[in-house]
Amino acid sequence: MNSNNCISSDVKLGENVQLSNFINLYGCEIGSETKIGAFVEIQKNAVVGKRCKISSHTFICEGVVVEDDVFIGHGVMFINDTYPRATTADGRLQTEADWKVERTVIKKGASIGSGARILPNTTVGENAIVGAGSVVTKDVPRNAIVAGNPARVLRFIEPAESFMESEAVPFLDLVAPHLELENELVGIFRKGLRTASFVGGSMVEEFEKAFATFCDSGHCVGVSSGTDALRFALIASGVRPGDVVLTVPNTFIATTEAISQAGAKPEFIDIDEHTLNMSAEVLQQFLERRCRRDASGKLISTRSGRRVTAIVPVHLYGQMADMDSILRLAGHYGLIVVEDACQAHGAEYFSKEQNRWMKPGSMGRAAAFSFYPGKNLGACGEGGAVTTNDGALAGTIRMLRDHGQAKKYYHDMEGYNGRLDAIQAGILSAKLPHVTEWNSRRREHATEYNRLLAGNEAVILPYEPFWSRAVYHLYVIRTADRSGLMNHLKMAGIDTGIHYPVPLHLQKAYASLKYGQGDFPIAERAATEIISLPMFPQLTSRQQSRVVEEVLAFASQALQGAGF
Ligand SMILES: Cc1ncc(COP(=O)(O)O)c(C=O)c1O
Repeated sequence: MNSNNCISSDVKLGENVQLSNFINLYGCEIGSETKIGAFVEIQKNAVVGKRCKISSHTFICEGVVVEDDVFIGHGVMFINDTYPRATTADGRLQTEADWKVERTVIKKGASIGSGARILPNTTVGENAIVGAGSVVTKDVPRNAIVAGNPARVLRFIEPAESFMESEAVPFLDLVAPHLELENELVGIFRKGLRTASFVGGSMVEEFEKAFATFCDSGHCVGVSSGTDALRFALIASGVRPGDVVLTVPNTFIATTEAISQAGAKPEFIDIDEHTLNMSAEVLQQFLERRCRRDASGKLISTRSGRRVTAIVPVHLYGQMADMDSILRLAGHYGLIVVEDACQAHGAEYFSKEQNRWMKPGSMGRAAAFSFYPGKNLGACGEGGAVTTNDGALAGTIRMLRDHGQAKKYYHDMEGYNGRLDAIQAGILSAKLPHVTEWNSRRREHATEYNRLLAGNEAVILPYEPFWSRAVYHLYVIRTADRSGLMNHLKMAGIDTGIHYPVPLHLQKAYASLKYGQGDFPIAERAATEIISLPMFPQLTSRQQSRVVEEVLAFASQALQGAGF
């Protein structure tokens, strides 16, 4: 304690109170971890809570209660007597017995700007902010920002600004996982620089081997993005210009871009209303009722008159589509299946056909993965991969990604510049051993969301069939008043997303396909109801509780509004 201070023996000081110089304290109580600046005086019977910051030259008089986490600027004056006089009516100097101490309360988390004057008999509400130099003459409501003389409410703090009550919850935290591995990742950049390994080479090969093993797949070919992975897989599997490739309308446009870039046309199959993945039932109806065989036995879409050659099921949000049923139909109709596994690294499907759990890339002809930074396995830039059990197919994709060459400057065909950067491959190798653990944390968060939100009529939770072990790239719930819930969460500082707001058949980019509203009712309805809640491995239980509390608060308002 500083020897220039005057602290009387009746002062109750909590633990780790930090005191500056020339402080005068008597008969007061100061909570733990509070910090008091120079020339502060705190009188008897005043109470200051924990973790407060009292700046220099402030005067806190008897009758003042400052709750926890309060900031008080420089030279703030409290007054505890509405009619102060020096002398009594009969001319004597006043003593304590002559004045009535009035009470002033500064509630938890409030901030009082420098030079403010706080008159007696006032309460400054929780989290409120009193502007510098203001004179507070009456109660300040909670969360209000006041200023002036007399202080007036300027506005109210939005929940997102109010750090005491609402720590903002990001939709995705991309910083934390990189900080966990920072040294290792920097080491990879250094290795890349020192060996000038930028394209191809051992870092790419090592990653390809490790990722193939991770996917229980025979081969992996690293490429420059998930979009290229799909495009190359389709071309190499035999999709030709003019063909029709069947997929779902509720996916990221990259799925259909890759189909178009392979020269084919997308046609859509509606989704299952529970899993939101391709409906095998609708696929079967399409193949039976909307297709015919031409003279040579080829399957033709009656809608477009084009040949149907492939199906791209999308393992949306990290949950695999019903692959047994899709593969059975594909087998029956002679169709290629390329899985869009861009959101499903490590997801599993229990195949009754095989009687075992299987992963994307080990079931269809090939699977495409994206390593876009926000994915369950993400690069520090762009990246993608194709996995397949077909060695010849993998060979063709290797050529396609590298200008059609198997040997430098010997081109068997025209290809693309679609290689995976060596540094990105190194980064992916460093992250890959953590993906299983990160995926289990995602699954735990999903279980917890499910538990805490269960039974609420205003929200529909994600559905995971018995045959699925989803990896929750996204945790997507459904609600009738989606924009209401989104706004409510935004006001509470909680970020959310919509994946995706407009189904692809209604996008301007596909106007030429001549689909319309009502063609895919399940996907259309889902697009108006889905909302993705914060989901990432490092989501803390506190953050998750905040999200749940706010969803439930909104849901109870919604149910009351609906007359439940
Ligand atoms: C379902 C789906 N397909 C394809 C892609 C394309 O991947 P990329 O962005 O790596 O090209 C993505 C990426 O967001 C996706 O989510």
